[in-house]
Amino acid sequence: MTKKYNKNILLTGGAGYIGSTVAHDLIKSGHKVTIIDNLSTGYKNLIPSKAEFYKADICDHKILKKIIKSKNFDLVMHFAAFVKVDESVKKPKKYFYNNYIKTKSFLNYCFKQGLNKIIFSSTASVYGNKKKKVKEKNKLLPANPYALSKTKCEKFILNADHKKKCKYVILRYFNVAGSPQNLKTGLITKEATHLIKKLCKFILGKKGTFYIYGNNYPTKDGTPIRDFIHVSDLSKLHILSMKYLLKYNKSQIFNCGYGKEYSVLEIVKTALKNSKKKLKFNFTKRRKGDVGYAVADNSKIKKYLKFKPKFNNIDLIIKSALKWEKKVLYKNYLN
Ligand SMILES: NC(=O)c1ccc[n+]([C@@H]2O[C@H](COP(=O)([O-])OP(=O)(O)OC[C@H]3O[C@@H](n4cnc5c(N)ncnc54)[C@H](O)[C@@H]3O)[C@@H](O)[C@H]2O)c1
Repeated sequence: MTKKYNKNILLTGGAGYIGSTVAHDLIKSGHKVTIIDNLSTGYKNLIPSKAEFYKADICDHKILKKIIKSKNFDLVMHFAAFVKVDESVKKPKKYFYNNYIKTKSFLNYCFKQGLNKIIFSSTASVYGNKKKKVKEKNKLLPANPYALSKTKCEKFILNADHKKKCKYVILRYFNVAGSPQNLKTGLITKEATHLIKKLCKFILGKKGTFYIYGNNYPTKDGTPIRDFIHVSDLSKLHILSMKYLLKYNKSQIFNCGYGKEYSVLEIVKTALKNSKKKLKFNFTKRRKGDVGYAVADNSKIKKYLKFKPKFNNIDLIIKSALKWEKKVLYKNYLN
């Protein structure tokens, strides 16, 4: 007897931090997942064994043709992208090409094949620097080439909807952190730029001084304010978005954050309290492309997706990231 799957999903970037977490959760909920990832920054070990995996670029139309024609997908979740703000400042063309040009090519191909429901990974950085919590309708002012590449993708998707080529849910993630309780996935990167990831590396033995970029922002302690969301809650938001899109066939943009404000300095102090280790930290100049304040107004996900966070606790987020970091130290995740 053949096994009955719930929904059939094409997922790009499934060897990455967030894509792999969502892929595991989808499979656990009974869905079928096919992953395309070129492993440029991803790790094969993060991919669920029950997913069908194709090591390919999202622009590889030969592979896309083979997969899309034979599978009858319900929906695409598009995570594949380069994600480092500081790298994008140094290499803007690399981000423009991989994140925007390739997304256009990939999605146009999907639309041509009749695959026209998308969940797209966007970012809070499309808003740029704002003084208060942002709503989805706020003006976009991307502050760096990474954010610009995502803003351009959003515009392309909105335009495709106007031309009746697709329906979408665009998810604007705030700062994603932590690892799922089962520690099957987590953030792996040779050069950490995420605050909590970097802190974990220092706490677990990285030598030297931990630097905070900028202490002259107009915030309570001069360091930037951020809104952290646990990767498992973010993953849940993808499943809720999928259900929403397939049920209502209505396009939406949603902020994905808890709407809680933490300064970078507060996060450093919380991490130290949780680790009981000493850490030398100091301040250095602002990092290009960073903004002073990025916090979500999340009333829309509460209203439309009935979102109830399960891991909305900064201690828990940091502890889970530390557990993952310990696991990564002892297991060889490089492929
Ligand atoms: N991590 C965050 O805090 C954060 C915040 C906001 C938005 N996002 C968005 O979430 C998505 C996933 O981010 P992540 O943190 O998991 O990053 P990641 O680097 O861990 O994962 C990205 C994956 O995409 C793959 N990839 C990149 N370009 C590709 C291409 N052309 N063809 C095929 N595969 C390709 C990589 O190999 C990698 O496995 C990205 O779109 C990112 O912009 C992440």
